[in-house]
Amino acid sequence: MKKIEVPLIYANRIINHGCVILVTSKYKDKSNIITLAWQMPVSHKPKLVSIAVHKKHFSHMLITKSKEFIINIPTRTVIDAIHFCGSVSGREIDKFRKTGFTEIEARYLNAPLIKECIGHMECRVKKIYAGGDHTIFLGEVLRVVVNEGVFDGKFLRLDNPRVQTLHHLGENRYMVSGVVIQAV
Ligand SMILES: Cc1cc2nc3c(=O)[nH]c(=O)nc-3n(C[C@H](O)[C@H](O)[C@H](O)COP(=O)(O)O)c2cc1C
Repeated sequence: MKKIEVPLIYANRIINHGCVILVTSKYKDKSNIITLAWQMPVSHKPKLVSIAVHKKHFSHMLITKSKEFIINIPTRTVIDAIHFCGSVSGREIDKFRKTGFTEIEARYLNAPLIKECIGHMECRVKKIYAGGDHTIFLGEVLRVVVNEGVFDGKFLRLDNPRVQTLHHLGENRYMVSGVVIQAV
């Protein structure tokens, strides 16, 4: 599937609807995938997004050391892999090998994109805020790419069954995106 560049002015449009994301990180020769529900766009200029990662997670160490992360947008077709990446630690398990996800080279960062996801944001860490048990990593968005056909130039086509993202309700329950309506 061909990946299409998205202008950075529309970067937030691929996570605005609050979907579950798969964040990839890499430090030295170790890459990893973590499932996250806690993500938020925080600034247009500069283009910043944030993720909240528990201090004990392996990804926390990888992101802290490498100062980079990649947000990948998965769809309902990979729900079991999403749940798996959110249930085991990369300290013990190679999640790329176990899920069968394919690594694609990023343009600006060492961490890989996940080929099977429909959208990707390459982010460099600009600030780190200590929360409670989670840390907030603020990332500057360097590049956004999406699969051909999933973005109409301005918006993700969330009403297209191929673009249905997941939204976490807790435990193993998820909701899918689907209906798009417009205000006058
Ligand atoms: C749907 C879902 C959403 C999650 N959201 C978050 C989150 O926002 N922040 C977080 O720190 N952990 C979150 N988790 C838990 C981590 O993904 C999980 O503990 C993971 O195994 C940590 O992986 P790591 O040690 O390889 O980094 C979530 C798990 C699931 C299943």
